[in-house]
Amino acid sequence: TGPAPRIAVLGTGYLGATHAVAMAQLGMEVVGVDTDPHKVEMLTAGKVPFYEPGLPELLSEQMATGRLRFTTDVAEAVGWADVHFVCVGTPQSKTSHAADLRYVEAVTTAITENLTHDALIVGKSTVPVGTAARLRTLVAREAPAGVRAELVWNPEFLREGKAVADTLHPDRIVLGGTSSDAEALLRRVYAGPIAEGSPVVVCDLPTAELVKVSANAFLATKISFINAISGVCEAAGADVTVLADALGHDVRIGRQFLDAGLGFGGGCLPKDIRALMYRANELGAGRAAALLQQVDEINMGQRQSVIDLAVQACGGSVLNRRIGVLGAAFKPHTDDVRDSPALNVAAALHLRGAQVTVYDPEAGDTARAMFPTLGYATSVDEAVEGTDVILVLTEWDEFIQADPAHLALLTHQPAVIDARGRLDAARWRSAGWTFTGLGRAALAA
Ligand code: UDX
Repeated sequence: TGPAPRIAVLGTGYLGATHAVAMAQLGMEVVGVDTDPHKVEMLTAGKVPFYEPGLPELLSEQMATGRLRFTTDVAEAVGWADVHFVCVGTPQSKTSHAADLRYVEAVTTAITENLTHDALIVGKSTVPVGTAARLRTLVAREAPAGVRAELVWNPEFLREGKAVADTLHPDRIVLGGTSSDAEALLRRVYAGPIAEGSPVVVCDLPTAELVKVSANAFLATKISFINAISGVCEAAGADVTVLADALGHDVRIGRQFLDAGLGFGGGCLPKDIRALMYRANELGAGRAAALLQQVDEINMGQRQSVIDLAVQACGGSVLNRRIGVLGAAFKPHTDDVRDSPALNVAAALHLRGAQVTVYDPEAGDTARAMFPTLGYATSVDEAVEGTDVILVLTEWDEFIQADPAHLALLTHQPAVIDARGRLDAARWRSAGWTFTGLGRAALAA
């Protein structure tokens, strides 16, 4: 009933850019807003400022329909739209584990001050529980006279590398704190995914905020669990990859997020579990905080284990030894190096005096911008040339499929540490490599 709602998406990072494109794809008129004119210019030209498979094609397609545009003009966008999605980042604060909410607060204030008619403000950013209630007070206080503005929470669960599919076909749609009008409006916005079977969970504001961080905390816990068991496997002479497969057959457990190795990184999991730890402590929920503290420690310990293995492979010191690092992104199919375990390990070895050369099929430039003092190669061959040991730290297909016989000829000493458990150990060994895998005692050198 009535015309389709007009959508404003504030923030055009991974979350916002994908959301704006997806909303246009669902048939609505959309404006994406960012304070960074460079991002707006790029998106307007049909270019995505980061690597995300499938998104550039969909962006160009939607720009061509005329339904999608980008602007730096918040007042114009807010005056035009009916539904305003808050899609800005909540990074870890510089001084503590808490989330830094300045962008969420600034955008919510900017929306509220510029409202010209009744509107729905929808938070999608990942925030500490209790934030939405505070923002609601802010909206009530700052909204122009005569304008009715409602604030609700609708967390986003997209994964980088699968952002488009996750946005168009979400596992669930969580609607927190909605009045019946707001719920009806959002059911219209998400009519496409709902028709295709995405379940809708309607709940209060704090539950909606907590669903998001709990989902990430659970995924992180699953990874740290298998990494802890991986340590037991090593000590006991078992193989964690076979164990994970066997565990995964239990439908109550499931095989996903049981890949032992270098652990989790990226712009979400690490900072989200730390923010939840901090918030749980504030709320007096000490047990949850203690559990998450262990999850974080186990995860960071994996990075140290790989550093130790590299030192061992170089005979006790990496000083002036050549180390080839395959992988810089925090996971494959992205160029994101935020809190990347791979780069963290590379930088630590560099600090210990190793000559480190990094190669990543997509993240070379973003890695160089963050760690300019490391060496960078433009191919696997170049990174492997003359090395004393190579480390496979991100499981790109290119590394899994590389020919170990060919690479062995390029090295000074064919030694490989497979920190993601994805190489064919038998194949590498028969090509002459000293092969070390995490949690696989039988594969230790
Ligand atoms: C994550 C959540 O999956 C997503 O729902 C949320 O919205 C944002 O955070 P993302 O950061 O894109 O998404 O990455 P994800 O695919 O979850 O991987 C996170 C990290 O865990 C990566 O560093 C990956 O290498 C690591 N990981 C994943 C493992 O070490 N083992 C596994 O078995 C799975």
